[in-house]
Amino acid sequence: MTQNPKTDKTFTLTNDQTGDSIKLPVLEGTAGPPVLDIRKLYAQTGHFTFDPSFTATGSCKSRITFIDGEKGILQHRGYDIADLAEKSDFLEVSYLLLNGDLPDKQQKEEFEHNITYHTMVDEQVNFFYRGFRRDAHPMAIMCGVVGALSAFYHDSLDIHDPAQREISAHRLIAKVATLGAMTHKYSIGQPFMYPRNDLSFAENFLYMCFAVPAEPYKVNPVLARAMDKIFILHADHEQNASTSTVRLAGSSQANPFACVSSGIACLWGPSHGGANQAVLEMLDEIGSVENIPEFIARAKDKDDPFRLMGFGHRVYKNFDPRANVLKAACDEVLEDLGINDPRLELAMELERIALEDPYFIERKLFPNVDFYSGIILKAMGFPTSMFTVLFAIARTVGWVSQWKEMIEEPALRIGRPRQLYTGPTQRPYVDLDDR
Ligand code: CMC
Repeated sequence: MTQNPKTDKTFTLTNDQTGDSIKLPVLEGTAGPPVLDIRKLYAQTGHFTFDPSFTATGSCKSRITFIDGEKGILQHRGYDIADLAEKSDFLEVSYLLLNGDLPDKQQKEEFEHNITYHTMVDEQVNFFYRGFRRDAHPMAIMCGVVGALSAFYHDSLDIHDPAQREISAHRLIAKVATLGAMTHKYSIGQPFMYPRNDLSFAENFLYMCFAVPAEPYKVNPVLARAMDKIFILHADHEQNASTSTVRLAGSSQANPFACVSSGIACLWGPSHGGANQAVLEMLDEIGSVENIPEFIARAKDKDDPFRLMGFGHRVYKNFDPRANVLKAACDEVLEDLGINDPRLELAMELERIALEDPYFIERKLFPNVDFYSGIILKAMGFPTSMFTVLFAIARTVGWVSQWKEMIEEPALRIGRPRQLYTGPTQRPYVDLDDR
């Protein structure tokens, strides 16, 4: 395990009321801004720091993913996302995220075998589904069934055993995809399709979602490749809201199935993974190109809660490198399927206008990954309510890799943020008759 990357540099913090100063150590990683080590701040000064949305807080050390939002860089274990999306495949990227390096041929084969042979879920899980209404939101089902995996796989719950950690990681990567496909089948009233071991991860997923027992199903290679790219592009994204949720849940030593289900719950929100669904809903609401100016005006109006979904990012302030890859994949899929979706025309016009508008330029609001993934997934035949499930399937490997990295830190302690209390100070209890 790595120790804290120390430097000789310090930062002096002075209390302007008392004139007292302390020196804060500066830690430097291999890339990205240096951080101030404030772990002794409270003991030394009696002050907490205040950073409610964590915009200036490094919550952990990590060797998995690096993002430079200003330059539009996203790298996993040092490899550029565009290279991985073009030259690799989802399971290879999963191996990279989990283990730190690209696999050699034998490691790749073994890993693919392990994931493939964990795709089936306990038969009892099928009955679990029946308790849900058919019109339940697929993410509501996913929160339940993924958390429930801990009730089925008792032999991989000991987080202190590296072998069990590895099995639970493989199970999660494999089974969340199967559960996602089952969720889709359940909501459209079709029979579940058992996984097929002769297909790749993305092909098998499309098969489980779109095949029916009544006839043979041939996977379209263009769609399988686009699906694989979507999985790669969503696989990990550093300490975002859902990953931080998984880490915080895991810091209490909760089991990985429970932790991943907490990540799924967080991902569901429209400010995070729910945005690709929201993009399609927004395009439907806009309706046609003539209405775009009205919606752009609404997005700019501070008194109107409407925001352009699929635009803006907390970290990327120039462009989202994942969006560039998906824009190309989007064209490929639509051309292959011969789809002339008016929503695409609408999306492209919206993109053009927003990129020229000073409001969006000044605030660095560029199309993000969800802007294009929504359109591709719709063309593939997924209902909008499934979009976030697909994101969850891809992100499971990121959550599991981050969870594993955290558990393997020798200095693991439960996460426990503090607060700036603004409520009433102590007051005497007043009897009901006297209120
Ligand atoms: N439409 C219109 N105005 C916007 C938008 C938008 N989509 N996003 C930000 N702004 C404005 C915002 O009103 C603010 O303006 P001002 O400075 O005048 O007050 C300024 O831009 C900065 O916004 P912010 O809310 O401080 O930015 P944030 O970093 O807190 O929010 C965000 C990031 C992604 C939540 C936000 O841009 C947003 O709501 N976008 C739409 C939802 C979306 O597409 N989410 C997917 C993110 S990518 C997938 C993922 O990684 O999960």
